[in-house]
Amino acid sequence: MNEPTGDPLLQPYELKGLTLRNRVFSSAHEPAYSEDGMPKDRYRLYHEEKAKGGIGLTMTAGSAVVAEDSPPAFGNLHAYDDAIVPWIRRLTDGVHEHGAACMIQITHLGRRTGWAQHDWLPVIAPSPRREPAHRSIPKEAEDWDIDRIVGKYADAAERMQAGGMDGIEIEAYGHLFDQFWSPVTNRRSDEYGGSQDARMMFGWQVLRAVRERVGADFIVGIRMSIDEQLAGGIVTSVGLDMLSQIETEGLIDFINVIRGNIADEVALSEVIPIHGMPSAPHLDFAGRVREHTGLAVMHASKVDEISTARHAISEGKVDLVGMTRAFMAEPHLMRKVIEGRESEIRPCVGATYCLDRIYEAGEALCIHNAATSREQSMPHDIDRAPVSRRVVVVGAGPAGLEAARVAGERGHQVTVLEVMPWAGGQVNLAVRNPRRKDLQGIVEWRVAECARLGVEFRFDTFADAESITAFEPDVVIVATGGQPQLPDFEAGADQVVTSWDVLGGDVTPSGDVLFYDDNGSHSALSAAEMIARSGANLEIVTPERMFGIEVGGLNHVPYARAFNECDTRITLYQRVLSIRPEGGRLTVEIGSDHTTHRTGRHVDWVVADHGTEALADTYFELKASSSNLGAVDYGALIDGRAQNLDRNPEGTFQLFRIGDAVHSRNIHAAIYDALRLVKDL
Ligand SMILES: Cc1cc2nc3c(=O)[nH]c(=O)nc-3n(C[C@H](O)[C@H](O)[C@H](O)COP(=O)(O)O)c2cc1C
Ligand code: SF4
Repeated sequence: MNEPTGDPLLQPYELKGLTLRNRVFSSAHEPAYSEDGMPKDRYRLYHEEKAKGGIGLTMTAGSAVVAEDSPPAFGNLHAYDDAIVPWIRRLTDGVHEHGAACMIQITHLGRRTGWAQHDWLPVIAPSPRREPAHRSIPKEAEDWDIDRIVGKYADAAERMQAGGMDGIEIEAYGHLFDQFWSPVTNRRSDEYGGSQDARMMFGWQVLRAVRERVGADFIVGIRMSIDEQLAGGIVTSVGLDMLSQIETEGLIDFINVIRGNIADEVALSEVIPIHGMPSAPHLDFAGRVREHTGLAVMHASKVDEISTARHAISEGKVDLVGMTRAFMAEPHLMRKVIEGRESEIRPCVGATYCLDRIYEAGEALCIHNAATSREQSMPHDIDRAPVSRRVVVVGAGPAGLEAARVAGERGHQVTVLEVMPWAGGQVNLAVRNPRRKDLQGIVEWRVAECARLGVEFRFDTFADAESITAFEPDVVIVATGGQPQLPDFEAGADQVVTSWDVLGGDVTPSGDVLFYDDNGSHSALSAAEMIARSGANLEIVTPERMFGIEVGGLNHVPYARAFNECDTRITLYQRVLSIRPEGGRLTVEIGSDHTTHRTGRHVDWVVADHGTEALADTYFELKASSSNLGAVDYGALIDGRAQNLDRNPEGTFQLFRIGDAVHSRNIHAAIYDALRLVKDL
C-alpha cells in the first residue's frame, strides 16, 4: 500500500482558489432525503458523515430544481425557494466544519419528470418528445418559459452562493439544459433549434445569466455528456467542440465528464453501471477529455475500488475522482485510506439498491450499510459497551454476521455457530449467478471485520438449546434465516422444484421449463436467468402485472437482457393452479385472478419461487428459558434504547431473532435488524 503522504489520492487540489484536501469526491446524487424540498437534518448529517470521514468534496443534491415547473421526480431539493437558503447554510457549515468542500448540482429536469406531482405544472422540453424513463409527453417550451427559466437558474445559483456553497454544478445530461443541446430532443426550427449553434442558445443564456449573477470568482462547473451514445445524438467531436466553446468563453471552471445518456433504464445503466458490469468503463474517455481541455476534470462511474481511484489520479485521467456509491457504503472511506486501514473499508458491491430505491420506495438506502442516511439514529462508528457480555449468534448469514460484527465492536465476547462449513447464508445462493458475485463482499467484509474484532466462528456446528446454553450466554441471537416455501397449488406441489434448488446447483432444469414466480424478487429472476442462459426453453409465469415486481429498474436491465437474448416468454396475470405428471412430462393448469378461464402447458420442469418461511426452530426451543421470552421492546428498539424486558425471572439470557428467521425480507432488512438491536446491547 502507498504511504499516505505519497498517495496520489491524498494530494490537495486547487480549484479556483478553493483548496480541496484530497482528490476524491462524491458526485451529485439525489438520495431523496429532502423534507418539504429542504435539506434538513437527515440530509445534512448524511453529507457531514462523509466530511467527517475525510472526503475532499461532497457535491450535494443531485438535480436540485431551479423552477416550480420542474416537478421533483425523485425527492429533489427546491432550489427555487428562498426558504432553502438557511437549510443550505446549515448543510455547508456542517460539511465545512469537518474540513470538506461542499457544492451543489442545480438543474431544470425538463422532460425528465412526471406531471402528476407537486404543483402539477405542465412538464416542458424543447420539443414534445417523450422521455421513456419518466413517461411525460412534454409541452414544447414557449418563449416565456425560456426567459423565465434562464432567470430561475441565476436565482437558484445566487441562493446556493448565499447559503455558503463553494460552487455549483449545472446538470447537462438528460435534463432541460442539454435537451436543448441534443438533436434527439430538440426538433425546434426557431432561434433555439435547427443547427448546433442554435441548439446551444439556451445553454449560453443560462451560463451567462448564472455567471453574471454569482460573479467571476464563484466556482461554476458543468456535468455534461460529451458523447450521448445515441443514434442522432451528440457525438464526441461535437461534445468536445461544445466544451471548447464554453471554456473559451470563460464561463465555467470544471467539467464533470459523462459519456452516454439516461433516457431509459438501459442507457442509465451504462452511465451508472451495476454489479456484473465492468468497472470504470468511461475513465479512459474522461482522460481523453482531460487531454482536450484546460478545465479541471472530474468523473464518476463505478470507480468502486481505491486502487482504481488511485490509478485514475496517478495516470492523469482526471483531476478529481468520484466514488459516489462507494461513499454511501463507506462514508469513512478516506479516513481509512489516510490511516492505512484500507482493508477495513466496507466495499460498495454495486447492488444499486440505493438508486433503485429512490424510485421504488422514495429514499436511497445502501444494501449493507444500514447507518447510511440514518445518521440521526444509527452510528457508523459503534461505541464500546460499558460491560462485556457473552453473546452467542446462531447463523452466519448477513443478519448473523452483522450482529456478530456489531457485538464485536461493542467489546462483547462473541461466538457464531453455523451449521454449514462456511459463512454467507442466502448470499451464497445469490452469488451462484456469476453476474452477482460481487455481493460476496457483504460476507467477506463482515468475516474479516469479525476476525479483527476477535469473534469466534464455529462452522459445521448444529446448534440446539443444549449446546447454546452450554456457553452460558447473556444474549442469544438467532439468525438462522429461512427456507423456500411454495405457493398454494390445488395439486402437484411435489412435482415442483424451487429457485433455491436451481441456484444451489441441486437441479439443472432443461427442455421446456415453466418458472412460476409468485414472489417477484431477485431469487426468482436470478434462477430464471440461469435457466435461460443454460439453453432451456423458458417461460416465466407470474400473477403480477409486471415481472420481478420487487426488483428495481436498474437491476431489471441485465435480467431483461438475458430474457430477451434467450427468447424467454414472460406471461403476466397468470397463476399456476396445479401440476400433474403425464407421459414423462408435467401438465400444468394455469388460471388467472381476473377470470375463471383456465389454460395449460406441457413442460419438463416446473420451478417456483414464493419467498421463504422462517427457519426458527432453535429460537422456539430456547424461548421458554429466556428472560424476555423472545419479546422485543419495539419502543426501545425504535428509540435506540437497550432491551430490558424481563418476562421470566427464571430466564438466564436474552433471546432475539433477526433477519429472515423472523420472516421473508431482504439483505438490507436483515442487516438493519442486526445493527439496531445489537448497537444497544
Ligand atoms: C441514489 C443516486 C442518485 C443519483 N442522482 C443523480 C443526480 O441527481 N444527478 C447526477 O448528476 N447524478 C446522479 N447520480 C449519479 C452519480 O452522481 C454517479 O454518477 C453514479 O452513482 C456513478 O458513480 P459511482 O459509481 O461512483 O456511484 C445518482 C446516483 C445515485 C446512486
Ligand atoms: S446499495 Fe449497493 S451500490 Fe448502492 S451503495 Fe450500497 S453497496 Fe453500493
